[in-house]
Amino acid sequence: SNMEPQLLSLPPPPRVLIFPFPCQGHVNSMLNLAQLLCLSGLHVTFLNSDHNHDRLVRHTDIQARFACYPGFQFNTITDGLPVEHPREGESILELCFSVNSITRPLFREMLVSGQFGLVNCIIADGIMGYTIDIANELGIPIFHFRTISACSFWAFFSIPQLIEAGEIPIKERCVFVTTEGNEDMDALVKSVPGMETFLRSRDLPSFCRCSDVSNPVLQLVKNETQQSPRARALILNTFEDLEGPILSQIRTQCPTTYTIGPLHAHRKTRLAKHATNTLQSSSNSSSLWEVDRSCMTWLDQQPLLSVVYISFGSLAVLTRDQLIEFWYGVVNSKKNFLWVRRLDSTPGNKEGESEDIPVELVEGTKERGYMVGWAPQEEVLAHKAVGGFLTHSGWNSTLESIVAGVPMVCWPYFADQQVNSRFVSEVWKLGVDMKDLCDRTIVEQMLNDLMVERREEFVKSTAEMVGLSRRSVSEGGSSYCNFDRLIEDIKLMSM
Ligand code: UDX
Repeated sequence: SNMEPQLLSLPPPPRVLIFPFPCQGHVNSMLNLAQLLCLSGLHVTFLNSDHNHDRLVRHTDIQARFACYPGFQFNTITDGLPVEHPREGESILELCFSVNSITRPLFREMLVSGQFGLVNCIIADGIMGYTIDIANELGIPIFHFRTISACSFWAFFSIPQLIEAGEIPIKERCVFVTTEGNEDMDALVKSVPGMETFLRSRDLPSFCRCSDVSNPVLQLVKNETQQSPRARALILNTFEDLEGPILSQIRTQCPTTYTIGPLHAHRKTRLAKHATNTLQSSSNSSSLWEVDRSCMTWLDQQPLLSVVYISFGSLAVLTRDQLIEFWYGVVNSKKNFLWVRRLDSTPGNKEGESEDIPVELVEGTKERGYMVGWAPQEEVLAHKAVGGFLTHSGWNSTLESIVAGVPMVCWPYFADQQVNSRFVSEVWKLGVDMKDLCDRTIVEQMLNDLMVERREEFVKSTAEMVGLSRRSVSEGGSSYCNFDRLIEDIKLMSM
């Protein structure tokens, strides 16, 4: 036809370089974004840390998942830490600093020397806000993507105002301490616009719990987050019906903010439209740990909505005392449970030390409990036997729970999680928040509230949110349309 010669002369699609911070929750969601871009016909280069890439390749069929997109390629870069260096718990701070001091200049060098080939546009993890200076220097358009909620982003963004007003630092507390708080911690915070009526000191990002505003983590988070208004646009893994009011606040500073989440659900909608059989049969795992699927068989044998799924994500490290309190609480609640215990997720797992879990606890779990090192979480949450989620309120976990309609008991560990859990309990009413408490009677009571006492209330609110979340990623939904606009935007500026 007449069209053919024209089509043939079209330039190749734009190539987008995607650069996540090297952590599970960041790699997950940005791989979903990468796949969405591929499905829209763009070419994508995904830049992993060497360390994560090895793990990804070892534990998943990630190569197969992307093999069907000819324009897709992986590249790797060092995260600046030795292979054996731990990358969870407090060690995550060292990762932040090594990425900043070692990966950052290397990233610039690799771009300058053309190691990624022609790059039309960069989508960088906004926690590495400095990417904007590098992109500007080289004249490459750049977007910032944040893996956190809009409400957490906005709390991070408000750190200068919080400091100015003297509302932080919240003295004598450290990022990793979640002790029982005093009354000061319950005072409402006034300097995060839109949250004045419900955000307490204890709900602020954990970095605010420091003795001095010169705290390097607080400074890093503040400085990087402040860069995002300079990006071409901000991309968030959330949806309008969930965070509309806070998104309006964000848009006063970052006028072009694309909400395109929940990405894991969005990916599924688009994939279903494009799918050939090969596409659909490849799994969606992007786990850095070996997934233990035996828990699915165990779940199949459990009664409807009877199981509490327990997972504290990819970074949290519990003390032995915390572990024991959780264990007693769960056992005493008499609920069935599936518990994810990552290797090394308690310090007691170190060589030569024993966890010394009391015998009656281990016995008490045999009938009703199942434990794995790493679960296929999306599938677990979607399983009909799962009725509740005891979570650390990481943003991916929260979104996965929302889409699956599973109410939550929140025990935030650090970073953005303190903010998320407040929204889950007070704003969205999708569960209860037990932050800063870790006591067997509280755990038991919270699980009982979730699964029995307040069940009806939570069933209603979670069901509503399931509908809204699914609609947002369906054709014509807000996230679906925003993603189409994002693609247009990328194409326009790559011309
Ligand atoms: C941190 C932050 O707190 C989070 O908000 C940010 O977006 C990323 O980094 P993390 O501990 O990784 O969080 O938690 P989360 O964001 O919930 O991500 C964990 C991911 O691992 C989820 O996608 C979850 O499905 C997956 N997971 C977890 C598994 O696949 N199996 C498991 O057993 C546990």
